[in-house]
Amino acid sequence: MKIINQKPTAVPPDLPEANLNGGTPMPRFQKKPQVFLETYGCQMNEYDSELVRTILKKENYEFVPKEQEADIVMLNTCAIREHAHRKVYGRVHAIRHARNGKPVMIGILGCMATNLRQELFQDRSLKIDFIAGPDSYKRLPALIDEAVVDGKKSFDVTLSEFETYADVYPSRKEGVNAWIAVMRGCNNFCTFCVVPYTRGRERSRPVTNVVEEVKRLADDGFKQVTLLGQNVNSYRHEEDDFASLLEEVSKVKGIERIRFTSPHPKDFPDRLIDVVAQNPKVCNQIHLPLQSGNDRVLEMMDRTYTRQEFMGLVDNMRKRVSNLVLSTDVIVGFPTETEEEFEDTLSLIRQVEFDSAFTFKYSQRKGTIASKKYPDDVLEETKTERIMRLNDIQKEITYQKNRAHIGETHTILLEPATHTKSKNEMVGRTDGNKLVIVTTPAASTHKVGDMVQVRITDATPHALKSDMLL
Ligand code: 5AD
Ligand code: SF4
Repeated sequence: MKIINQKPTAVPPDLPEANLNGGTPMPRFQKKPQVFLETYGCQMNEYDSELVRTILKKENYEFVPKEQEADIVMLNTCAIREHAHRKVYGRVHAIRHARNGKPVMIGILGCMATNLRQELFQDRSLKIDFIAGPDSYKRLPALIDEAVVDGKKSFDVTLSEFETYADVYPSRKEGVNAWIAVMRGCNNFCTFCVVPYTRGRERSRPVTNVVEEVKRLADDGFKQVTLLGQNVNSYRHEEDDFASLLEEVSKVKGIERIRFTSPHPKDFPDRLIDVVAQNPKVCNQIHLPLQSGNDRVLEMMDRTYTRQEFMGLVDNMRKRVSNLVLSTDVIVGFPTETEEEFEDTLSLIRQVEFDSAFTFKYSQRKGTIASKKYPDDVLEETKTERIMRLNDIQKEITYQKNRAHIGETHTILLEPATHTKSKNEMVGRTDGNKLVIVTTPAASTHKVGDMVQVRITDATPHALKSDMLL
């Protein structure tokens, strides 16, 4: 692939006519190229968008809040479930339609880019100009140049064994929490999952590098960091494992709380659970993806644990960590899952009583082991019926778990409200990450970023209500 080092501002005005492959001819950028970036999917994608902002801002690109103002629209995509995938196709058509013939370049980033490169370029109606996979963001300026100067479709979806973006400080939104990717990729190959194909092999950043960034985050006013990775607790750099990373991060002054997501049950040695239990800054909250409560299904998923082992791990965690808040992920309708096997999942959910659960209908993903080995044979209506039953049960458990907090005193970290609350209300989170609405006294001077004591007065399945203690 040819890389042209000219910046878009240097593009001769007549060249874009050569854009023969279905992309929209771009006029020369007269000013700083204006970019609109939209993000789909998981937190890692949000984080990657923050990296992309930094990389492009350095090259004189400007980010705009509305797609109508943009010269370039980029969609940072997710390939994990079909829904996200269809949404992006719809969005690309809608963007072109809304522009009414006014030229715009469209770039696809992220997991869908890696997985569907062929399909994305071949679908002429989509008119994609450039594609960059999750390990190619440093090459984005060159890819855009190539698309503009040569009017070619440019792409780089190479997966790297080394890229961690350790040298890029993300352009984060203001707030109290900063996400920080400490490792990327996944080596687990759960049979349903596309991540190992779209994001490649596991690689971790050095502890010192993560700690340096966390210090900078504290200086920038962040109070909480959430360590991110596809399989975050398999973090390993030379002699350092995830437990030692947590301990080092916890020494950074100014950071009050540390969370992490998403771990795999296979990587939870006692030493790690004890850091969660004993280190006051590491929150007593663990997301522990279950996926299924049936051994045959777990085996087919290649999750490497049995139902009993999973429940043993939960018992061990609850024994060691007081007031542990547990959440999980569950997939219903994995190929060949029978009614009885699904009921095993329900019984585990009832037994363990997670505080909350993210539930998904199995969605066959191209290239995965399951897509090659197993027919997607559970009817859509059966998947729907199962997920509804599961959600009903979990909703009640969540509600009861939330109600059990009524009367308790909690320290919460005040955060910006996502929607307008009444004047004497603020929002925050408990150590266990539960959303709390706080009624503040009229004379309160508390602000976002403060840690305050509250008494829980009421609960819904979605949030706790509380009064501030003076
Ligand atoms: N179908 C349904 N759910 C999936 N997940 C991952 N891949 C699939 C798939 N093919 C869910 C898992 C995972 C979460 C992030 O998304 O539950 O833990
Ligand atoms: Fe996917 Fe399994 Fe890796 Fe999670 S651990 S990203 S589910 S392959």
